[in-house]
Amino acid sequence: MNHNQKNIDAILLKEGFINESIPKGVNLVDEIKRLKKEKNAVILGHYYIEAELQDISDFVGDSLALAQEAARTTADIIVFVGVHFMAETAKIINPAKKVILPDLKAGCSLAESAPIDDFRKFKAKYPGHKVISYINCTADMKTETDIVCTSSNAVKIVESFPKDAKLIFGPDKNLGNYINSLTGRNMVLWNGACMVHEQYSVEKIAALMDEHPDAEMIAHPECEKPVLILAKFIGSTAQLLKYVQQSETKKFIVATESGILHQMKKACPEKVFIPAPSVDSTCGCNDCTHMKLNSIRKLYLCLKNELPEVTLSDEVIEKARKPIERMLEIS
Ligand code: 13P
Ligand code: SF4
Repeated sequence: MNHNQKNIDAILLKEGFINESIPKGVNLVDEIKRLKKEKNAVILGHYYIEAELQDISDFVGDSLALAQEAARTTADIIVFVGVHFMAETAKIINPAKKVILPDLKAGCSLAESAPIDDFRKFKAKYPGHKVISYINCTADMKTETDIVCTSSNAVKIVESFPKDAKLIFGPDKNLGNYINSLTGRNMVLWNGACMVHEQYSVEKIAALMDEHPDAEMIAHPECEKPVLILAKFIGSTAQLLKYVQQSETKKFIVATESGILHQMKKACPEKVFIPAPSVDSTCGCNDCTHMKLNSIRKLYLCLKNELPEVTLSDEVIEKARKPIERMLEIS
């Protein structure tokens, strides 16, 4: 390799891309398993990643279960096959461990909707308010937070505050609205949304429900209110998965990222799962492009090179840890 190529590779690496060709014939799945053992690494995967990545993960779960697993792991290296805020959360809980994720660019529209300077200004407008942040936010936002929640435990976390407490909830306005309606609170909401869950077409879902009267429509609370109104059951990814297993119903229209269908089909091979349609049927909008940046190739290179690594300052880790620990204690 000449000098120039080395420079190019270093620049690409800073951008989170490992420019390394893999010799033909290498079985990436076998190599990942070997490296994982050799390095005492654990692979944590979210339900929204590709099926083959879920199958190679040591633990697949929703945001809460993954944070809990990150808190209890004894591995030296955590490979987070998900998105950046999840890997950051694992790092905050485990400052001494190396946390890597296959693609640093795997972000989240919700986390990006709340730039820290804007959020600080917003918070300053509501003196005396406590901040509850959905885990889908940056580590910086967590430093401005009293307690973190996920969609699995949001009601419990909100209800841990007195009925008359003044609360700010962010960054997801749809989840915030839904929790306000369930708890009778009037939390001040940050105006953020998930680019996947706000794409569902209520008209198309209603038409699909007419077409399949034997199907139940189930939805993630990140969806907009009209979609939630149509849903028979609303829950986090783990709660949706549990619901389809326990329900007598044989057919479901599923309004959340399509990756979860892999676990649903695995758990209930005899049942039918129909992904809820998006406004634009040509865009594949019910796939999270961030989650789908993860691939077997990137996972292999990430484990092999132990890069890209998620790093955070000591100050951010210290401040962001408290609201996460509070959540884990309550959950
Ligand atoms: P849960 O896995 O907590 O349901 O959250 C969904 C999500 O959007 C993750 O990014
Ligand atoms: Fe973020 Fe939405 Fe993707 Fe989840 S599905 S990671 S909330 S953009």
